Amino acid sequence: MNVNIGIIGGGLMGREITSAFARWCALVDMPVTPVLKAVADLNPEVLSWFEKIPSVTQRVSDYHELLANPEIEVVYVAVPHHLHEEIYVNVLRAGKDLLAEKPFGIDLKAAERICEVIEETGRFVRCSSEMPFLPGGQRAFEVARSGKLGRVLEVVSGFHHASDLDPTKAANWKRISKTCGEGGVLNDLGMHACHLPLRLGWEPKRIFAQLQKGYPERPDGRGGKAECDTWDNALVHGWSEIGGEDVPVRLEMKRLQPGATNTWFIEILGTEGGVRYSTADTKGLWLFERGKEQFWKRSELGFETAFKTVTGGIFEVGFADVIQQMWASYLLERAGLLDGRFGCAKPEEALASHRIFAGALDSHENSKVVEL
Ligand SMILES: NC(=O)c1ccc[n+]([C@@H]2O[C@H](COP(=O)([O-])OP(=O)(O)OC[C@H]3O[C@@H](n4cnc5c(N)ncnc54)[C@H](O)[C@@H]3O)[C@@H](O)[C@H]2O)c1
Repeated sequence: MNVNIGIIGGGLMGREITSAFARWCALVDMPVTPVLKAVADLNPEVLSWFEKIPSVTQRVSDYHELLANPEIEVVYVAVPHHLHEEIYVNVLRAGKDLLAEKPFGIDLKAAERICEVIEETGRFVRCSSEMPFLPGGQRAFEVARSGKLGRVLEVVSGFHHASDLDPTKAANWKRISKTCGEGGVLNDLGMHACHLPLRLGWEPKRIFAQLQKGYPERPDGRGGKAECDTWDNALVHGWSEIGGEDVPVRLEMKRLQPGATNTWFIEILGTEGGVRYSTADTKGLWLFERGKEQFWKRSELGFETAFKTVTGGIFEVGFADVIQQMWASYLLERAGLLDGRFGCAKPEEALASHRIFAGALDSHENSKVVEL
C-alpha cells in the first residue's frame, strides 16, 4: 500500500525524513510505503534540493497549495515552533493526517488547541520523537515494564548537546523566544526526555525546575549580531507515582553540556534491577542485577529494531535508522498494523510534555514546587 506524503518545511528534518523514505527498501515485511509527492518551503534553495527526488511532483512556497493537493494523505511538518499551531490546524482542517514535529505547538495553549482540532477532525496524528526507537531505548522500556526492577528508586531521562558552548555559532530561530517559544530548550529537547517516562505512565505530579540561559548575543550569520534570549539548559526534578510510591524522576534538557553531541539517555534504578542507556555509548546497554553480589553488566546491542530491516544483526543503529523506524511505526499504526510494537508519541503525551514545560517555567520563575 502506497501512502502519499507532503512535507512542509524542507530544512534539516524535512531532508532527513526524505532520505529515510528513499531507502525504504531496507525494511522487510513492510506493507506500507511512503511516497513523497509534495514539498512546501519558503526558501527556493531548499525547494531546489528536492529536484533530485523523482517522486516529488509539487514544490511550492505556499503550503496552502500543498494542502489543496487531493493526492496528499499524510503531511509531515518541520517548521519553526511559532508556526506549528497554525500549520497543524490547517493540515487537519484540510482532511490530512499529520506527523507533527515536536514540541507540538509553541506552548501549552497551542498544544491544547491542536488537540481540540484533532478531536474535532478525527485525523490520525502523532508527534515526532525517534530516540526511543533505538535498541537501547526499546530495551530500557521492556526492562521498565518487566516488573523485575523491584521498587523503583529513581529515573533520569534526558537529552544533551554542547553546540551552544561555541560563541561563534550563528544564531537561528531556535535561540530566540519569539520563534522557539518561551520554553527554549524545553521546547527544543523536552519531548525526547519525556517520551519514555510518559509512555510508562510516569508523568510527574509535581516538579521543581532550574533553568539557565546561554550567550545573550551571537553572530547573526550576516556580519551582524543577534540577541538570543532562550533558556539553554533545564533540569526538571519531578515526583511521579510508580508502584504506589513517590519516586524522583529527573528530566534533563541541555544545549550547554560540555562535550555532548545529541546525547539521549535514560537510567531507571530499582531495588532489584536497573537499566542504563546512553547514545554516547551507542551499543552499550547496562543492566543492574542484585544478588549476593551486585553487578552492572554491559552488553553490546546489535541491530535489534522493532521494525525488521535487511541490515545485519551485528551492525549498529544510528539517527537515520531510528527516524526510519519512527516512520515505519507511524505508517503501520495508521494502517492498524502496529501489532503491539512501539508507537510514536501520542497527542496526549505531547500535551503532557507541555504541561511539564509550562510547570517548569512557573517553577523556575517563582522558585517553587509546582503541582501539575
Ligand atoms: N525529531 C528531531 O530529532 C528533531 C531534530 C531537529 C529539529 N526538530 C524539529 O523539527 C522542526 C524544524 O526544525 P529544523 O531543525 O528542521 O529547522 P530548519 O530551520 O532547518 O528548517 C525549517 C524549514 O522551515 C521552512 N519554513 C519556515 N516557514 C515556513 C512556512 N511558512 N512554510 C513552509 N516552510 C517554512 C524554512 O525555510 C526551513 O527550510 C522543529 O519543530 C524542530 O524542533 C526535530
